[in-house]
Amino acid sequence: MVDISKYKKPNDVEIEQAMNNAVTQVETDLENFTHKFKINGTTDNFYEPNDNISWTSGFWTGQIWMAYEITGDEKYRKAAEIQVDSFLHRIENKIETNNHDMGFLYSLSCVAAYKLTGNKNAKKAAILAADNLISRYREDGKFIQAWGNVGADDNYRLIIDCLLNLPLLYWTSDVTGDDKYAKIAKQHIDTSLKVIMRDDCSTYHTFYFEQGTGKPLYGETRQGYSNDSSWSRGQAWGVYGTALSYMYTKNPEYIEKFYKITDFFIDNLPKDLVPYWDFKFTDGSDEPKDSSAATIAVCGMLEMSKYLDEEKSDYYIDIALKILKSLIDNYAVSDSKISNGQLLHGVYARKSPYNPCRNRNVDECNTWGDYYYMEALIRLTRDWKLYW
Ligand code: GLY
Repeated sequence: MVDISKYKKPNDVEIEQAMNNAVTQVETDLENFTHKFKINGTTDNFYEPNDNISWTSGFWTGQIWMAYEITGDEKYRKAAEIQVDSFLHRIENKIETNNHDMGFLYSLSCVAAYKLTGNKNAKKAAILAADNLISRYREDGKFIQAWGNVGADDNYRLIIDCLLNLPLLYWTSDVTGDDKYAKIAKQHIDTSLKVIMRDDCSTYHTFYFEQGTGKPLYGETRQGYSNDSSWSRGQAWGVYGTALSYMYTKNPEYIEKFYKITDFFIDNLPKDLVPYWDFKFTDGSDEPKDSSAATIAVCGMLEMSKYLDEEKSDYYIDIALKILKSLIDNYAVSDSKISNGQLLHGVYARKSPYNPCRNRNVDECNTWGDYYYMEALIRLTRDWKLYW
């Protein structure tokens, strides 16, 4: 375990400068990415335009909304609203919606739009997305099925990433007054937290159930190195996911789970405080880092620290800031000639002998790393109201 007490935190000027660089990147990219979205991750550090068909489209819209909040410039609002219309079209026509990714997609685009501007189409789209998400709830195992056709035997499982889809359900209950969405969210996280964490507080990526009885069966990786390793982004989804469910429910069990998942994450960080793509790897390895895991965990620690006693809160804020300093100094894009993203050195998927992946966007920017990096910065520069 590295001795984090010796590390530096970014000062206010460094944070402000990083935020300004991030907004400049969004501004530069508006021309090519208003009627199109950024594809999941870069090739040689540059994104190509993509239609609104991936689980990642909302991360770019979320960055545009943050640029709007920071600058107040209407050009960002207009661009984000064009994207909101695309999200309404997508859910009304069920384009690539046979999955659980509704929160990633609709919180950062449409819930954000509704919270910031009262956009009615955005509210409608987000509620339709929440309806789609709860249609994947499996009563026998009390979980939301992540992938594949609902009820498919070979995909009868939850995945840790889904914790980030739950805020859409809590929000929908709040705006509709119908508590069925929040009930499903609570059932899902309770089931997840029962099965997903191992004794050492590392996590499985996915967990299968027996169809019909709902009996928990076994954990299996998809994007991690192996079934018994901890995929670093999965662990980070656990950090932020427990914080967000606590924010909505105030269930103290989620704080206890947050400590366990987050402390595993912190205790296994390498020297520059940015994890390799799987916690199996540490200093000395040639394997790539996943900067997106670091910045997701930073956002989770900053969020949960709002609800902890002073000592714990200071502890997690201190570590979050030190990780962020490493990202600002060594991973952030400061020149649009190098990249049209925000955060270098992420991994979408890395092939291993024990997972079914092919290499995808390895040692590249990815849209979620960019989004969470900007979210971490906006949290530190104002009293930011979450889009989640
Ligand atoms: N939610 C998919 C991923 O983190 O790659």
